[in-house]
Amino acid sequence: MHKMRPSRALSLSSLILMCVALAVVATGKPQDAAQAGQNPPQSGNNPPSAQSAPQATPIDAETCKLCHEDNYNSWSASPHWKTTLDKRGGPLMQGCETCHAPAAEHVANPGEPSKFPFTFDKASPKDINARCLSCHASGAEAMHVTESVHRLSDVSCVSCHSIHHAEDKEFLLAKPQPELCYTCHAQQRAQFNMPFHHRVNEHLVRCSDCHNPHGTVGEHQLRASATQSVVCYKCHEDKQGPFVFEHEPVKTEGCVMCHTPHGGPNPHMLKTSNVNLLCLSCHTTSFSNAPGAPSFHNQAAQYQACTLCHTQIHGSNFSSVFFK
Ligand code: HEC
Ligand code: HEC
Ligand code: HEC
Ligand code: HEC
Ligand code: HEC
Ligand code: HEC
Ligand code: HEC
Ligand code: HEC
Ligand code: HEC
Ligand code: HEC
Repeated sequence: MHKMRPSRALSLSSLILMCVALAVVATGKPQDAAQAGQNPPQSGNNPPSAQSAPQATPIDAETCKLCHEDNYNSWSASPHWKTTLDKRGGPLMQGCETCHAPAAEHVANPGEPSKFPFTFDKASPKDINARCLSCHASGAEAMHVTESVHRLSDVSCVSCHSIHHAEDKEFLLAKPQPELCYTCHAQQRAQFNMPFHHRVNEHLVRCSDCHNPHGTVGEHQLRASATQSVVCYKCHEDKQGPFVFEHEPVKTEGCVMCHTPHGGPNPHMLKTSNVNLLCLSCHTTSFSNAPGAPSFHNQAAQYQACTLCHTQIHGSNFSSVFFK
């Protein structure tokens, strides 16, 4: 009833395993068990080291399919199917056992919880990360996994990714962004609900446009190197310059000196409700190296709305006081 791929050479031992498998399938037991998978075995979680028998017989995914068809189907529809094409690591680095560890003993004795392969629901974050990183420790995205705040805080790969039950098939995310992130970052949900915000909830901008959840060298897992403002230039190129007349803090302090990056109550996501308060926090002779606003700037009247006149506040090629 289950066709094997004709090209697959079956060893004697796997034939025996197949017979066991088919016999159990014929009784209908494991299918029922799999469907009733809601009650996971109580004592089945072995650390991976305890399971790797010296010379484990590789089991190919087609065999697992006999009893775990749903898991097989979700796997074969995902990019992990591609491991079957990469012969370099040998058969144990292909198919199901890449993640679940050698499972020959399990196949020979499927109902026995102590022989279950590596299961993720009861494994430690460290063990889970190690397992996934055996293939995913390289590449631009994973460059700084060792510094990852998530990893150091015991947030494992499967806190965000699901191999068999991904709601967002792109990148196998357990849930789509931003809901995924909000499950743990409630404060940020509140920020993106503020009147002025980056349209993350509207799916125009993603958390991962600015953050790399796998870790970065910089603070806050921001996708930036030297200054925090770099990540902003990705989309706000016009603010980068270089300008003939730079407004110094844009370059030295970065965008978050004046803006809240997520969202807030003030127009343009400014940190203060009135622009003049923001400007005067620096442009008073006593507080910084910025020149004080000229004395004719009477704050009782028209000089409050600083950017009405100083319009090019991020820098200008024409006016040293950013008029145009
Ligand atoms: C002969 C049928 C059979 C075969 C073949 C088989 N399994 Fe299982 N497997 C079972 C049964 C029965 C259980 C226990 C009931 C359950 O949780 O689904 C189980 C449990 C598991 C579990 C633990 C599930 C949990 O809820 O904790 C994993 C993981 C697993 N199998 C993976 C595999 C992999 C990987 C293969 C192939 C290498 C494989 N199985 C081959 C029958 C089988
Ligand atoms: C890339 C790693 C990976 C591969 C490859 C993989 N699994 Fe899983 N498996 C997981 C993870 C992680 C879970 C925990 C549930 C989840 O995240 O979807 C899991 C859960 C399971 C379970 C428990 C029931 C469930 O759905 O939670 C079974 C059974 C299982 N896998 C069987 C298989 C079989 C059969 C294959 C091959 C066809 C396979 N797995 C390939 C990572 C993997
Ligand atoms: C805090 C959540 C989170 C954690 C923890 C996490 N990821 Fe991701 N991962 C994501 C998101 C979100 C994306 C999509 C990134 C994007 O939009 O560019 C992603 C993308 C990926 C990709 C595809 C992107 C690529 O080109 O590399 C891989 C592979 C990946 N993650 C592996 C892992 C592994 C392995 C771990 C554990 C060491 C892990 N992830 C931990 C959230 C997470
Ligand atoms: C045996 C090696 C191997 C292991 C172990 C492995 N993966 Fe993968 N993973 C791959 C390959 C190969 C791809 C496909 C890459 C491609 O498409 O170029 C992939 C793709 C992915 C992607 C990207 C999906 C997409 O849509 O682009 C994510 C996310 C991912 N893996 C997460 C994980 C997680 C989480 C684990 C641990 C539970 C894990 N992987 C374990 C080899 C592995
Ligand atoms: C437009 C870019 C951008 C987007 C989109 C973004 N962030 Fe941020 N995030 C930042 C910057 C910049 C900081 C650093 C703020 C600072 O230095 O004051 C930060 C800081 C954080 C912090 C650290 C605590 C804090 O608030 O300062 C967390 C946690 C965080 N972001 C989570 C998220 C989540 C979750 C999402 C999606 C729902 C998200 N971010 C979307 C740019 C962004
Ligand atoms: C399973 C829970 C969980 C999920 C899901 C999660 N995070 Fe986190 N995140 C944490 C924990 C725990 C920390 C470390 C403690 C802290 O700073 O809050 C953290 C830290 C961070 C930080 C660094 C904060 C700092 O000040 O350095 C950023 C940025 C961040 N997460 C972004 C994200 C994004 C983006 C997503 C979604 C793709 C996400 N997180 C999903 C739990 C989670
Ligand atoms: C992934 C692209 C992207 C990145 C990265 C990004 N932005 Fe934006 N930003 C946008 C878009 C799109 C808008 C337009 C807002 C809208 O119409 O919803 C916007 C609007 C703004 C606004 C204007 C809001 C208004 O009311 O006029 C400010 C201020 C802003 N971003 C600051 C920042 C800062 C600071 C950073 C870096 C922390 C940043 N942006 C990073 C895409 C991005
Ligand atoms: C010295 C304070 C300050 C700094 C630093 C700053 N901004 Fe602004 N930004 C403002 C003010 C004030 C406004 C409102 C301008 C107005 O009222 O016309 C604004 C408006 C904006 C707007 C919306 C209007 C427009 O011009 O497009 C964007 C987008 C923006 N800033 C992005 C950035 C980015 C990106 C950075 C970092 C490179 C940055 N800002 C750094 C003060 C600042
Ligand atoms: C974080 C501190 C800071 C904030 C906030 C700030 N500035 Fe500045 N500003 C400076 C510094 C420093 C200089 C450069 C002084 C120099 O070149 O000697 C400067 C230069 C200027 C100049 C040019 C002065 C000259 O003679 O070249 C003007 C005009 C100006 N700022 C207006 C504003 C306005 C309007 C705001 C509010 C939207 C503002 N600044 C917010 C620090 C700040
Ligand atoms: C009605 C238009 C107008 C408004 C509003 C305005 N300014 Fe000015 N600002 C000027 C003019 C005119 C000059 C002088 C330009 C020159 O010297 O060529 C000036 C010069 C400056 C300078 C440069 C002083 C120096 O010594 O080089 C600073 C700093 C400055 N303004 C800050 C502010 C701040 C802060 C606000 C808001 C509280 C503000 N301005 C509001 C018109 C305005």
